[in-house]
Amino acid sequence: MTILFALLLACAGEGRVDDILALTGDPVAGEAVFDSSCASCHGAAGSGGSGGALSGGDPQGVAETVLFGNDEMPAFDGDLSDQEIADVVAYVTEVL
Ligand code: HEC
Repeated sequence: MTILFALLLACAGEGRVDDILALTGDPVAGEAVFDSSCASCHGAAGSGGSGGALSGGDPQGVAETVLFGNDEMPAFDGDLSDQEIADVVAYVTEVL
């Protein structure tokens, strides 16, 4: 049962990540999203904090982390729109 659920989530997840990667992220708008949603843990301009420093990275991996979170990081699916996630991914991967 748990495995089935995880599988369903993984399938739904792939589509969501693809939707976000298909959008054009605006790094300038993404900076504002970062300041309000990420800087509390990852520091101003990704300089680091409880969430560690951020710089660059693979857009797909960053989008997955923001959408679904990880052990220590909250998921932003529902809190941020797909466009806001695309914007913050562009900021993290292109500017930081
Ligand atoms: C409540 C604190 C918190 C918030 C808010 C937060 N994060 Fe995180 N984040 C973490 C922690 C903790 C980790 C896991 C430890 C690490 O990689 O530094 C993490 C990991 C990551 C990773 C993976 C880093 C790696 O090297 O694997 C990325 C990318 C990331 N966060 C991006 C973001 C973005 C973008 C936002 C804003 C939308 C955000 N985080 C908001 C705490 C947070």
